[in-house]
Formats: sequence, structure tokens, C-alpha cells
Amino acid sequence: MDNLVVEGGVPLHGAIRVSGAKNAALPILAASLLTEGTCTFRNVPRLRDVETMGALLRIMGAETEIAPPVVTLRGGGVRRPEAPYELVKQMRASVLVLGPLLARFGHAKVSLPGGCAIGARPIDQHLKGLEAMGAEIKLEHGYVVASCPRLRGATIHFDMATVTGTENLMMAAALAKGRTQLVGAAREPEVEELARVLNKMGARIDGAGTDVIHIEGVETLHPVDHAIIADRIEAGTFMCAVAATGGDVLVEGTISEHVEPLAERLRTAGVEIVREETGLRVRSPGARGLRAVDIETAPHPGFPTDMQAQFMALMTLARGTSHVIESVFENRFMHVPELSRMGANIQVRGQSATLTGVDRLSGASVMATDLRASACLVIAGLLAEGETEVLRVYHLDRGYEAIEKKLSPLGARIRRVRGNL
Ligand code: EPZ
Repeated sequence: MDNLVVEGGVPLHGAIRVSGAKNAALPILAASLLTEGTCTFRNVPRLRDVETMGALLRIMGAETEIAPPVVTLRGGGVRRPEAPYELVKQMRASVLVLGPLLARFGHAKVSLPGGCAIGARPIDQHLKGLEAMGAEIKLEHGYVVASCPRLRGATIHFDMATVTGTENLMMAAALAKGRTQLVGAAREPEVEELARVLNKMGARIDGAGTDVIHIEGVETLHPVDHAIIADRIEAGTFMCAVAATGGDVLVEGTISEHVEPLAERLRTAGVEIVREETGLRVRSPGARGLRAVDIETAPHPGFPTDMQAQFMALMTLARGTSHVIESVFENRFMHVPELSRMGANIQVRGQSATLTGVDRLSGASVMATDLRASACLVIAGLLAEGETEVLRVYHLDRGYEAIEKKLSPLGARIRRVRGNL
């Protein structure tokens, strides 16, 4: 397993390009199941999760050409609408094939994803919505076995905003008979992007991006050629990195509105963020020159839970005390013990963490436990004095395209080494 070795203390300068959005690409690749023809997707990031989704579609019989940034998929070849445990356990987002398979084939067998490091992450809202549309859902031997000759439109009220729940049901409703309303829908930009793709395929969806989405079912959908939006979490991670080290970096390809919840907090802390022609310019005196600010994660347009760990790394050296409340997932503070080993002063009580700025972090060997915790530790390494080795970067490779190759041209001292773990 690879590790990343980071030498801290170097301000970052230059320009860095953001890749396509992982959390838009995954539902969009699954949407190719909704049509017989060949879909072409561009600006697809080169990530393990994209490979995994490609493998899943291939196992079902779809013809795939996974060559990021271009991916082509022909849903017409699908013969086995089944998603096996060995793939689903690698990537929870595999559950996104459930809605499309049921809508297109009338039956589907998808492994329950199981929990993950950050929480139990049930899919009850996905299943409740499909049942409301007439599906018979059985749970057998760890699999969801769903069947329904033809889904019919329904009004579905979510108990909480769920991104993939909204996406799964939007895809199912696209081919259902009649009208569906998703009330309490997730408002993330990736939900809007999926609706954009589905409408290009012939679906009739409006309201995506708001908390009520209307879908008028149609008989068939046709293939599409589409370039995917930029990844707002990768962009936010780079923004936190330069905020932490200090410097002046143009984060290219970023969609400003999508990172506004984070940008607002960074500006409050004292980071200068200016919109330019090709992206956002981020200038910072470095973490020690920033004010401590509070954050509470929430569904979009609130502060994104996927940026909580990276922001916490930045706050370890900020002046004063900051309070971080994680309201979306029940166990998303696993980066805290690793930051503490580097010298951070963080007290965790339930869903809230209190950080008191310290003078310095010292480099250490640290272990990543999930994707965004890994990104947090890379930022901490860029801040720390001396050398930090981030172990198990396969977590990082799920969501960041060759992060060391992107950060090095900015002056970051970061290299990938073969680990012995
Ligand atoms: C999506 O996960 C993202 N993944 C996650 O990004 C992100 O952290 C999350 O949304 C929140 O923004 C993809 O889009 C592929 P949820 P998802 O359903 O859809 C509870 C990353 O780092 N819930 O919005 O699985 C759930 O337990 C990943 O890129 C239910 O109780 O998240 C959680 O507490 C990590 N029942 C909350 O809702 C359900 O049926 C939000 O989860 C569904 C969700």
C-alpha cells in the first residue's frame, strides 16, 4: 500500500486544476443503465471509485470503455441486474444502480452496502421511496431484492435530506408511469448535475437544486454526451491547503457558487478569495495568521460535511478557539486522534469538537481511515514542522486524482512511496 511523505512549512504558489466531480460522476455513470444506447461522459476524474463503478456495470453486462477523462458506457448489454457484495462493499455508491435497474428491468438484486468508517449509513429512505412507487422490496442474505413490472409515480417525503437517496429515486422516477414528487430532496450541486444529464436523455425533471423535485415519467430515455462539472470538494480541499500553508494559488475550473459555503467561512477566518476568469484566486497569510471560526456541517447549501476534516486541519493553528459540529454523520471525527498526535489541541464531546489554536504541529506518521480524513492529514502535513507520512493512501486515491502530482508544482514537498503495510 502506498504512503504519502509530506515536508511541511512551504507556502504554495501557482495554479491548480480541479478534476471532474466524483460525486456527480458516480450517479451519472449509473444513469447509463437507463438507456440501450452508448453514453459518452467527459471530464470524468481518474479515481478508484470510477474504476469500481465501471467494473460493476461491466459485471452486469454493460459495455464500458473507462479511459478518464472520457468514459463510454452502453447499457444495452446488461443481462444480469445484480450488484454483488464484493464490489458494493468497496464502494457504497454502488447502491446508485438500484433505481436505474428497477426502472429499466423491473427487477434488481443489490447487496446492502453495510456501514463504513463514518457511520451506519442506512439506505432506508431509498427503499421507502421505491416501495412508494410500487416496488416489492425483500432483504435476503444481505441483498436488497426488488421487483416491480412498472414503477408508478408517487409523492415521497424524505425523513432527512439524502444525496444518493434523492439521486436513486430521481433515476427510478424518470421511467416510472406518471408523476413523482420528491419532497425534502437533497439540494447538492451533484443532484442538479444528474437532473441535467437525465433531462438531456429525455427525462422531464424540474426543481432539482431545490427541496422539491418534480419528475414526469417517460417511456424511454436516449443516450447522451456530457461533460461533468468540477469537483467542489477537491476544489475546497485545495483552498484549505493554501489557506493553511499561506501563499497565492489560482484554483482553476472551480464553480464559485458550489464552494460558497466554504468560501464564506474561509473569508471570515481572514483568507482572501477572489473570483477570476478561470477560477478562484486564494491568498492567505497561513494558518497562524487566521482567526478561529466555528462551523456546523449541514446538507447543501450548508457547510459540507465532506470539508469538515480539511477545515479542522486548518483551524489547528488558527488564533483562538473554534467549534466544529458534525451534524450529518455520526462518526466523522476519526482524524482527530491523528491531529492530536501531531500536537493539535482538540477536545471532542459527542458531535462537537473544540479546537484551541497551538503554535505548531510536528510531523508524524499518521493513519488515514476514510477519504476526507486522509485529505485532512495531507493538509496537516503541509502545515507541520518536519516530515509527515500519511499511511494507507488508497483511501485518498478514491477521491483525489494523483494529489501529490497536483500539489508539487505549487511548491509542496510531497511524494508517494511504496508502503510496507
Ligand atoms: C453522499 O453520500 C456523498 N457520496 C458523501 O460523500 C457525502 O458525505 C454525503 O452525500 C453527504 O453530503 C456520494 O455522493 C457518492 P446521505 P450519501 O444519504 O448519499 C442518513 C465523500 O467523501 N441516511 O446524504 O450516502 C445518513 O446515514 C462521500 O465523497 C439515512 O439515515 O449520504 C447520513 O447520516 C462520503 N437513511 C445522512 O442521512 C438513508 O436512507 C446523509 O446521508 C440515507 C441517508
